[in-house]
Amino acid sequence: MSVSVTVRVPAKVNVQLSVGGVRADGFHDLANVFLAVGLYDEVTVTPSDTLRVTCAGPDAAQVPLDRTNLAARAAEALAARYGRDANVHLHIAKDIPVAGGMAGGSADGAGALLACDALWGTGASRGELLDICAELGSDVPFSLVGGAALGTGRGERLTVLDVGGAFHWVFAMAARGLSTPAVFREFDRLGAGRDIPEPVASADLIDALAKGDPDALAATVSNDLQAAALSLFPELAATLAAGRAAGALTALVSGSGPTTAFLVPDAGSAERVARALRDSGTCRTVRTAPAPAPGATVLGD
Ligand code: C5P
Repeated sequence: MSVSVTVRVPAKVNVQLSVGGVRADGFHDLANVFLAVGLYDEVTVTPSDTLRVTCAGPDAAQVPLDRTNLAARAAEALAARYGRDANVHLHIAKDIPVAGGMAGGSADGAGALLACDALWGTGASRGELLDICAELGSDVPFSLVGGAALGTGRGERLTVLDVGGAFHWVFAMAARGLSTPAVFREFDRLGAGRDIPEPVASADLIDALAKGDPDALAATVSNDLQAAALSLFPELAATLAAGRAAGALTALVSGSGPTTAFLVPDAGSAERVARALRDSGTCRTVRTAPAPAPGATVLGD
């Protein structure tokens, strides 16, 4: 009998990220349309003498292995709720870029939660798991759910959206990371003194997703954090320009960045745009990924 459980969890791109003013709790109200993409971390949980985290993969050296890791916090949160110890070894096979605006940390939190739940047989309901995800971070519930969803509140209140076809993406990873709080602070600084409207989901964008129409999606994507990310990381403009010149339907910063995302018409164009981005010398690595991708999934089920 196997005593470990492995969960696969996707990355995300935000196809709409509308940001409202800063709230009393320091967060921002959002209209946040998440789309899960086929780049995955895998979290394996095994019983152990003590709670510990290990990580492997190209960016593993940048991943904290202490209790600040969302995977460790997820195990502790679930254990506390069920009055048990959190003595597990969490191993993260990391393929999602670290500090890249693709919810890699959130993916590990959702993955660890689902894996511990399966290992311990807690019988927690989906609603309970989503509540714990929301306590862990604004993007964590979406990592559990996958597909496409509108996140309101600080992004944690989800409405699942229909996706009518495949969308092909290219992602360019930058030479350094960006801190999400720093990007939100820059958004506040750039908007100081201006009236920030209430964030509202775009009906046209939701329709484009439902139809599976990449041209319509390209015409409606938006990211209110893009100007703030570019202000902190001006070199990203050259990456965006290189992808557009190579034939991307649209180019945008993914979430708080600094990963840049390029929507392309099909898998063949994805390879061409990826090659052009690699040759441009404006980014560290380039990956292609289809969307939508399923949410956190226990492997071997
Ligand atoms: O919720 P999470 O821990 O992922 O958020 C990280 C940081 O991003 C927050 O501490 C906050 O600075 C910023 N944030 C925000 N408004 C949101 C989501 C995140 O200001 N809706």
